[in-house]
Amino acid sequence: PFVVTENCIKCKYTDCVEVCPVDCFHEGPNFLVIDPEECIDCTLCEPECPANAIFPEDDVPAGQEDFIALNAELSKAWPVLTERKDAPADAKDWDGKPGKRDLIER
Ligand code: SF4
Ligand code: F3S
Repeated sequence: PFVVTENCIKCKYTDCVEVCPVDCFHEGPNFLVIDPEECIDCTLCEPECPANAIFPEDDVPAGQEDFIALNAELSKAWPVLTERKDAPADAKDWDGKPGKRDLIER
């Protein structure tokens, strides 16, 4: 499956959800995740993310491997999102900032 990684946090552009043919994106307060049991590896979402936060499971950036388990865990708890919505007003300020993982709201 594909995995949403750290740079989505507080950017949350949601362009990704529009292209997913199986509606497997789940939305939390400031982060999105992919349900690994539903993702069919179609690859469509990866180029849609303006923050380049989506990677195939086998190609998750070094140091972000824990996001694989995090996507599996949080997709069970959060509702499906299928329509794009406005990103946070300060999304650009957070794009590329390190150390965002501790800011995930649940
Ligand atoms: Fe959805 Fe395809 Fe992305 Fe998987 S790879 S989350 S199926 S758009
Ligand atoms: Fe996040 Fe990128 Fe989607 S920032 S909400 S993974 S478009």
